[in-house]
Amino acid sequence: MDKLVIHGQRPLKGRVQINGAKNAVLAIVAAACLADDVCIIENIPKIADIDNMLAILRSMNVQTEYLDEHTVRIDSRTMVNCCADSDEVRNMRASYYLLGVLLGRFKYARVSFPGGCDFGVRPIDQHIKGFEALGAEVDAKSIIEIKARELHGTNVFLDVVSVGATINIMLAAVLARGTTVIENAAKEPHVVDTASFLNSMGADSKGAGTDVIRIRGVQKLHGSTYAVIPDQIEAGTYMVAAAITGGDVTVENLIPRHMEAITAKLRESGVKVYEKDDSLRVISEGIRKKPVKIKTLPYPGFPTDMQPQMMAYLSTIPGTSIVNESVYDGHRFRYVEQLKRMGANIDVESHIAIVDGVTELVGTEVEATDLRAGAAMVLAGLAAVGETVVTNIKYIDRGYERMVDKFNNMGAWIERVHENQPIPIHHRERAV
Ligand code: EPZ
Repeated sequence: MDKLVIHGQRPLKGRVQINGAKNAVLAIVAAACLADDVCIIENIPKIADIDNMLAILRSMNVQTEYLDEHTVRIDSRTMVNCCADSDEVRNMRASYYLLGVLLGRFKYARVSFPGGCDFGVRPIDQHIKGFEALGAEVDAKSIIEIKARELHGTNVFLDVVSVGATINIMLAAVLARGTTVIENAAKEPHVVDTASFLNSMGADSKGAGTDVIRIRGVQKLHGSTYAVIPDQIEAGTYMVAAAITGGDVTVENLIPRHMEAITAKLRESGVKVYEKDDSLRVISEGIRKKPVKIKTLPYPGFPTDMQPQMMAYLSTIPGTSIVNESVYDGHRFRYVEQLKRMGANIDVESHIAIVDGVTELVGTEVEATDLRAGAAMVLAGLAAVGETVVTNIKYIDRGYERMVDKFNNMGAWIERVHENQPIPIHHRERAV
C-alpha cells in the first residue's frame, strides 16, 4: 500500500476543479439497474468506490463500459439477480443500494451486510423498516434476504434522518403499485440528484430536498443520460485546505448553495469567501483566524463528512473551538489521536471535542483511519512544520480523484511513495 509524504507550510495558490459527487454516483449507478435498458452517466469521479460498485454490478451480469474517463454506459438488460455476497459488497457501505434496486426490479434480494468506513455502529434498521412497509419480508441474519409478492405504496416516517434509507426506500418504491410517502426524509444534494435521475428514467417522485418525498409508482422505467452534480464534500475539503494553509484558492465547478454551511463557518473563522455562479474563492493569507463552534447536522446543516477536515483546521487556530458530532456517535473522532501525534490539543468527551488550538502542528507519521479522516491528515500535513507521512491511503483513493495532483498544482509538495520505499530525503527545496 502506498503512503503520502507531505512537505508542509506551503500556502496553496491557484485553482482546483471539483469532480462528480461520490455519494450521488454510488446511488445513481445502482438505480440505473431499475430499468431494463441502457443508461449513460456523466461526470463520474475516477475513484475506487465507483470502480467497486461497477464491479458488483458486473458480477450480476450488468454490462458497464467507460465511454471516457468520467462517463460510464450501464446496460442492465442482461442483469441476473444472483446473490451479491463478495468482498466488494462487504467493503462498501453503498452496496446496500442493491437491496432497494433488486427488490424494486425483481421483488427479491439477497445481499451480504454492507461495510464502509468504520466509525461506530451503522445500522440499516430504517432501510428495513421502509422495505417492510412496502410489503416485503426481510430476513437479516448472516445475510440480508428480502422478498415480496408485490410492493404497494405506503407511508414511512423515518426515526432517524438517514441518507441511505431515504434513497433505498425511493429505489424500492418507484415501481411499487400506488403512492409512497417518506417523511423525515434526508435532504442532502445527493438525495435530490438521485430523485432527479429516477425521474429522468420515467419515475414520478416529488419533494426530494424537503423532508417529505412522494413517489407515485409507475409500471416501467426507461434508460436515461444524466450528468451527476459536483461533490459537495470534495469541494469543502479544498476550501478548508486553502484556509488551513493561509492560501488563496478558487474552487471551481461546484454549486455554491450546497456549500453554504461550510462557507458560513469559514467566514466565521475570519476567512474571506467570494462567490461566483459555479466557484468559490477562499482567501486565508494574512488573516488572523478565530475559533468557532461546529455542530454536525443533516443537510442543510454542517455536514458530518466535513467534520474531520474542519477539526484539522480548528486545531491550528489559537483559542477554544468546539466540535459536536451529532450525526454519528463519538466514534467519528477516532482520527483525533492521529492529529494529537502532530501536536494538536483536543479533548474528546463522547460526541463533543474541545479544541485548544496551537500555533503550529509538527509533521510525523500518521494513519488514515477512514476516508474523511485521511483527508484531514493531509490537510494537517499541508499546514504542519516539516514532513508528514500519511499511511493507509487506500481510504483516500476511495473518495478523492487525483488529490495529490490537485494539491501539487496549487503549490503543495506531496509525494506518493510505496510503503516499503524509504522516505526521499531532499537536500534542496522543491522548485516552486
Ligand atoms: C451516507 O451514509 C454517506 N455515505 C456518508 O458518507 C455520510 O456520512 C452519511 O450519509 C451522512 O451524511 C454514502 O452516501 C455512501 P445515514 P449513510 O444513513 O447513508 C443512523 C463519506 O465519507 N442510521 O444518513 O450510511 C446512522 O447510524 C461517507 O462519503 C440508523 O440508525 O448515513 C447515522 O448515525 C461516510 N439506521 C445516521 O443515521 C439506519 O437504518 C445517519 O446515517 C440508517 C442510519
